[in-house]
Amino acid sequence: MTADIIDGKAFAADVRERVAAHVARLTGDRGLTPGLAVVIVGSDPASEIYVRNKQRQTVEAGMQSFEHRLPEATAEVALLALIARLNADPAVHGILCQLPLPGHINADAVINAIDPAKDVDGFHISNVGLLATGQKALVPCTPLGCLMLLRDRLGSLSGADAVVLGRSNIVGKPMAQLLLRDSATVTVAHSRTRDLAAVCRRADILVAAVGRPEMVPGDWIKPGATVIDVGINRLPAPERGEGKTRIVGDVDFASACRVAGAITPVPGGVGPMTIACLLANTLTACCRAHGMAEPEGLTA
Ligand code: GUN
Repeated sequence: MTADIIDGKAFAADVRERVAAHVARLTGDRGLTPGLAVVIVGSDPASEIYVRNKQRQTVEAGMQSFEHRLPEATAEVALLALIARLNADPAVHGILCQLPLPGHINADAVINAIDPAKDVDGFHISNVGLLATGQKALVPCTPLGCLMLLRDRLGSLSGADAVVLGRSNIVGKPMAQLLLRDSATVTVAHSRTRDLAAVCRRADILVAAVGRPEMVPGDWIKPGATVIDVGINRLPAPERGEGKTRIVGDVDFASACRVAGAITPVPGGVGPMTIACLLANTLTACCRAHGMAEPEGLTA
């Protein structure tokens, strides 16, 4: 068997187009432009690239982008004061504080200071609770992107055996909640799980989000399964030249392709969906703030 490759890059482009079309209608008909504020503290190189991409794609979707760059030494009270200003700003419908934050700042305190209605990351404790209890929430972007890819591939997820590898607050836990909400039978596996291979082999849907390069070999995969690889790991690639690297997922793509029914590649799978879903969440937050119909197919 050779797995179908799930083209996350093309799917993300389609999501961005649908967001942009909805934004154009909002702006044309109602004079309303969704706005996203991104806060970055310090100068982590990976965060810099991520924030630049977010800003470009926000503007391309017809939304307003507000960027707040603060020095590494910023005090927590100063960051909280900025969050309070953004909460009160009617032009800002979404607020994202780029993680990781410097060690002297309590990230939980900052996340929970964001107005839950503007929490487009879906990390606020209220949104976590709303998702867990099946109520209307803003949902974390990466798991939302995975859910969209799964629904597109499989239609109904009802009754499917789903295994989520990884239990992070950003991906693993919300992914499990979303799969449960779509009536899958969900197992959350992690580094302490006994016989991980046997657990993974039961999965009709396998979502790998552990951050360990090529950890899941093909023989952990059930024939015909749908595999979603959330990992983005950089490995040295001396064959490409001195100091060069290559990016791989948490799944060993070559061996997995011989067993799975469908698989997301790395890069070009889940990665592009994260920012596309951030734009979708910003649009959703704007529509909810103004009591307007939400975009169809762009929420959980
Ligand atoms: N850093 C890495 N991924 C994310 C994300 O999804 N949201 C935020 N705020 N920071 C991140």
